[in-house]
Amino acid sequence: MNTTTTGRILLGGAIAMLALTCGPQIMAHGDMVPQAVDTSDLPDIGEEWLQKNPYSGNARAIEIGTSAYNQNCARCHGLDAISGGIAPDLRYLEPGESGDAWFVERYRKGSSHDGRVLMPPLGDVLGQKAGWAIRAFLETKYTEE
Ligand code: HEC
Repeated sequence: MNTTTTGRILLGGAIAMLALTCGPQIMAHGDMVPQAVDTSDLPDIGEEWLQKNPYSGNARAIEIGTSAYNQNCARCHGLDAISGGIAPDLRYLEPGESGDAWFVERYRKGSSHDGRVLMPPLGDVLGQKAGWAIRAFLETKYTEE
């Protein structure tokens, strides 16, 4: 085998590797890959979407919600729910039922304007239990505007 052939083979291999390693990263860049949330510790709440947080004040839910928030929401809404300005500051979301209803609406449906996705719908991907756990965490961060 001469050196040119070896070079071609190496180059071919390098391109194949590049394609393999870049694929998932290209998908992950910009569009986020939701991180699954383990909610098995939390009481089941059924399939039907609730309008009121069943986990409000639940310590384990708050713990799960904190990590679920940091993995799935913080990159837009800011670490610890303190927004850097790209997306609304979720500390100002009203506590209690009126805030719950708005929270679950956005969590399930996300937000798009003129075909631009500002926030992806996350409810079906992460599930209802994870959503209410995140909401329970956010309530602990509530700050009056
Ligand atoms: C890609 C960025 C992005 C991610 C990720 C994201 N959001 Fe959002 N979110 C936004 C933007 C932008 C808005 C404002 C939408 C608008 O004004 O129409 C918003 C709005 C909201 C609102 C309504 C806030 C208000 O004051 O009206 C809630 C609640 C919310 N997001 C919760 C979440 C939760 C919970 C997560 C994680 C599970 C999450 N978001 C992940 C970008 C994001």
